[in-house]
Amino acid sequence: LKTYESILVERRGRVGLITLNRPQALNALNRQIMLDVTDAVAVFDADDSIGAMVITGSAKAFAAGADIKEMQPLGYVDIFKSDKFGPWDILTRTRKPIIAAVAGFALGGGCELAMMCDFILAADTAKFGQPEIKLGVTPGMGGTQRFTHAVGKAKAMEMCLTGRMMDAAEAERAGLVARIVEADKLLDDAIATAQTIASMSMPVAMMVKECINAAMNMPLNEGLRFEKRVFHSTFALADQKEGMQAFVDKRKADFKNI
Ligand code: CAA
Repeated sequence: LKTYESILVERRGRVGLITLNRPQALNALNRQIMLDVTDAVAVFDADDSIGAMVITGSAKAFAAGADIKEMQPLGYVDIFKSDKFGPWDILTRTRKPIIAAVAGFALGGGCELAMMCDFILAADTAKFGQPEIKLGVTPGMGGTQRFTHAVGKAKAMEMCLTGRMMDAAEAERAGLVARIVEADKLLDDAIATAQTIASMSMPVAMMVKECINAAMNMPLNEGLRFEKRVFHSTFALADQKEGMQAFVDKRKADFKNI
């Protein structure tokens, strides 16, 4: 594995673990951390021995937003020409599942990064928010879009217009996070969850991810048609034969990812 300046990268079984590591700035997302995370995600996505990824931060902060000090001197032309947050899009093109394990602050770009992942596991200490409006800007990495998909218009409007934070319990009620975990068990739970996913048939996990993402972008009738075609295609896999045979034999399936 490569070493990076602003993140730590580890392999835990079939899980690729990425830990944001700019503690002096509460993991504020500067250009370096963006280049590091997107590179590490692309490397894990291309690695056949990895079945799922976890992105996490520290106990105090998943990430406290885009790096305000880095953005502060920029003008319109700078930020437009550099396509400031464009490289993050690689996360949404990743085919293997990514879990965000969030403790502490997930604000602005930090909340948006968590939402780019496939689902969020939240420590009971997690705090989510889109406080950009307090800085005189709008969210710019999906906050007005993914937040609205996740929690609905009323809460998205209220959160993005006031900049207030929501705690883990509210985030779970609102549907922003999949589950809440005690803070000291967060990482173990996230790795175990990723390991469970990585033990499934890899192509099928990739198809499930693709189908659910299609639900966000397609009208229901098109999404249902897409799902049916994908479901039919799973019957071309050796893993479908193995999964169903294992059920009949009353044993655990041993998927070969083919
Ligand atoms: N960018 C740059 N530096 C940041 C930062 C950020 N987003 N968030 C925190 N830091 C730095 C602080 O400046 C401070 O550095 P110094 O010690 O050098 O002063 C260090 O991290 C520790 O932070 P605090 O002393 O502020 O810690 P705290 O516990 O008192 O407060 C906090 C924590 C409430 C999260 C507070 O740091 C805060 O409000 N941070 C900014 C949150 C924010 O506005 N995020 C949105 C950014 S804009 C964005 O993300 C745009 C987009 O849509 C992509």
